[in-house]
Amino acid sequence: MVSRNAYIVGTGHSVPEGVITNADLEKIVDTSDEWITSRTGIKERRKADDDTGSSDLVAEAVSDALEMAGWEPEDVQGIIVGTVTPDYPFPSTAAIVADRLGMGRIPAYDFEAGCTAFIYGLIQAKAFVESGMMDRMIVVGADCLTRITNWDDRGSCILFGDGAGAVAVSSRGPGGRLGGWHWGSDGSLGQHLIQKAGGSKRPASHETVDRNEHTIFMNGSRIFKHAVRAMHDSCMEALKKDGTEKSSVDLLVSHQANLRIIDATARALELEPEQVFINIQKYGNTSAASIPIALDEAYRSDAIGESSTVVLAAFGAGLTWGGMILHW
Ligand code: UT7
Repeated sequence: MVSRNAYIVGTGHSVPEGVITNADLEKIVDTSDEWITSRTGIKERRKADDDTGSSDLVAEAVSDALEMAGWEPEDVQGIIVGTVTPDYPFPSTAAIVADRLGMGRIPAYDFEAGCTAFIYGLIQAKAFVESGMMDRMIVVGADCLTRITNWDDRGSCILFGDGAGAVAVSSRGPGGRLGGWHWGSDGSLGQHLIQKAGGSKRPASHETVDRNEHTIFMNGSRIFKHAVRAMHDSCMEALKKDGTEKSSVDLLVSHQANLRIIDATARALELEPEQVFINIQKYGNTSAASIPIALDEAYRSDAIGESSTVVLAAFGAGLTWGGMILHW
């Protein structure tokens, strides 16, 4: 049997124009630019306007990825969107975007793995493409977390921003070949990062709204400790499966949650500062969108070149974690 590979052949992203600076947040909660910058690395983040939903950002990101891939919308055989902030609980954002861009009656679905969703999506795409089920598909990570941010909680509201990133995955290169991977979860820690109401367990009511339970609850320091370990373990497991030494890594493109977490991961991989792609200062934590946005910016700025070995790593709600190696 001829073995098949899966390649990233197009990337794209979209962020809304609205900017929230640290100075803006100083007017809302008891915080300071100095605290936010030194504890997180974030200087500003983007916020969608009232008329914009995740699907609007997704459509723009996908259009960019299609253009780079040289695909028409009807070339796409499937689209999957990782998000915790879809336009609606149903129908899916993926189906909305497939229709809006004219992709036809293809399979389209959303899935949820918090900030790890994009890596979960790449692993699904690798399985679909390498098995021969699809030749051309779109993987998206997108979130508008400012829609569910608790603006009274200084421990979390300073982190989040909105955005979407997309990749086109093909059975034909050249491109970034999807290599070794790792994914996992631990639901016993789920309560540390949770939107408590709005699902079947606690449907929306006046009480849930009054108690602010439709916004993000986060035990930041608990998540931080988990994140440092999960990011490192995901990288090492993915490298092992790939048969690649950490000394061969050219670039780390990780979930942009906190600069200190990214730095700790880079130190564990023994990477130099120029081998770590960072854009958290501009966008904050965009959840599922952070890796595909960073990947697109890294690719378009030539931080990724011919024969680059790139490590992706993420952690998020669930709790979930994952890693993947890309070979250009
Ligand atoms: O994508 C996954 C989503 N979640 C994450 O990635 C979160 C991971 N966690 C983090 O990034 C960090 O834990 C935070 C940035 C959220 C918090 O940083 P920290 O260094 O873990 O701070 P802390 O929660 O331990 O709080 C230290 C102090 C506390 O004051 P006291 O008790 O020492 O007096 C907090 O009340 O900092 C205080 N604090 C703040 N002060 C000014 C917490 N938030 C703020 C703030 N401004 N925004």
